[in-house]
Amino acid sequence: MSKNIIVSNRLPVQIVLENEKLAVFPSVGGLATGMKSVHADGDGIWIGWSGLEETQLTQKNKENVEKALLKEKCIPVPLTQDNIDDFYLGFSNKTLWPLFHYFTEYTSFENSQWLSYKEVNEKFAKVVLDNSEDGDTIWIHDYQLLLLPELVKEHRPNSKIGFFLHIPYPSFEIFRIFPWREQLLKGMLGADLIGFHTYDYERHFLSSVKRILRLEVNFNQIIYDDRVIKVDSFPMGIDYDKFYNASKLKNENTQAEKSDLQIRLEEHHKSASGTKLILSIDRLDYTKGIPNRIKAFEYFLNQYPEYKEKVRLIMLAVPSRSNVPQYKRLKRETDELVGRINGKFSTVNWTPIWYFYRSFPFENLIDLYTSSDVALITPLRDGMNLVAKEYVATRTNQDGVLILSEMAGASKEMNEAIIINPNNFEQFSNAIKQALEMSEEEQNSRMKILQKRLKRYNVEKWASEFMKSLSNTNKNQKTVQAT
Ligand code: ADP
Ligand code: F6P
Repeated sequence: MSKNIIVSNRLPVQIVLENEKLAVFPSVGGLATGMKSVHADGDGIWIGWSGLEETQLTQKNKENVEKALLKEKCIPVPLTQDNIDDFYLGFSNKTLWPLFHYFTEYTSFENSQWLSYKEVNEKFAKVVLDNSEDGDTIWIHDYQLLLLPELVKEHRPNSKIGFFLHIPYPSFEIFRIFPWREQLLKGMLGADLIGFHTYDYERHFLSSVKRILRLEVNFNQIIYDDRVIKVDSFPMGIDYDKFYNASKLKNENTQAEKSDLQIRLEEHHKSASGTKLILSIDRLDYTKGIPNRIKAFEYFLNQYPEYKEKVRLIMLAVPSRSNVPQYKRLKRETDELVGRINGKFSTVNWTPIWYFYRSFPFENLIDLYTSSDVALITPLRDGMNLVAKEYVATRTNQDGVLILSEMAGASKEMNEAIIINPNNFEQFSNAIKQALEMSEEEQNSRMKILQKRLKRYNVEKWASEFMKSLSNTNKNQKTVQAT
């Protein structure tokens, strides 16, 4: 019987080995958190990296890791320290990530890292081939594995291969800068269906295919090597019920059942009467516009001083890719900015920014989402942004306001949020004021529409639409013969 296989760089869980003890943690990031429920409900396997360095592992530990992952229906792709440095931290996150997010000044092109990228994509291909048969459905995810569809298709001509990009696909003028552009495009074209979060990313991809590979494109189909490849947009949703129900449960909790954080947040509301909470949650990534957001908050406090002691920004940043220099610099810059603004505005009773640099368990995320009057999601560039959707799903009383950057893919589906250009501080600051002063009726009417849409197009629906479309891809395509 054919099976479904998910492949991504990071598995939904990460393994940490401390003093010979294994611990399993959930991975952070939209791909992992979103796909997790799709995987949990299905009977397929997920292939990816465990987060460990393979040469650290004794034979016994290796077996234990494999066992722990098998329980989660996961199969590891072992990465060496060189792979981690050159493929993951290097090519994936110093070349593709900044370029695809329009941060050209951060983009480096190193041949040795490109070679490592090819080598690791081949490593993934080997694990996929060892764990699949021709005819299985294989769904490959994200920018770390752009060459994989072609490598797999060559040996699995009768398998349906889907590819989904979780980050923006940049305009042709940006993509053309990339030295190995033909190879990347051909790698992706090994898939039968290529999906993006938005129509704009799809359009940019088709334009690159036409202008760089000079292939025939009919509406959203590409003719390549006598195969027909379908390209479409599928805006990723969230596990809406999980967030809604967890929040509902919180609201019904008795005092004894409340988490420490929930009690602390409630105390905050009671003690500082009239003080409102603005929440932001991201991985600490330069694409998320964190320094920009802090500066805009300062601008707001200067422009509307009547809000001093009346509002607080709670900012969660989860550590990410901290060995990449730009991320290290961002950490320093964020620490300094928070320190400077807190130093400048704090009073005995009030600190304007509460900043946490760590991951939080799901429980606590729900506490924060449900306690915040406003969510401030203002990336400079973001493929989708699931945090914006999670915030909406937790607002069971249909109150709360979402301020959302127009640079996030999510803004295309969330028109009822206050949509801003995060580079325009005037607009940014006015949006904060508008959110804090919005009547309950208006909050409710905006929230209701947002919730209805997110509930209908949840992550399950997203995955099933993608799979349906994949299974309907041209059944009579001629493919490269297996070697
Ligand atoms: P990205 O994929 O770029 O990280 P998304 O907003 O799409 O951005 O997804 C981030 C995911 O990571 C969300 O599901 C969010 O709940 C989770 N997350 C973000 N910050 C934290 C944190 N501090 N602790 C735990 N989970 C977090
Ligand atoms: O959703 C985008 C994404 O880049 C995923 O591909 C990735 O797994 C996640 O964010 C977090 O990044 P990382 O895997 O580098 O920790």
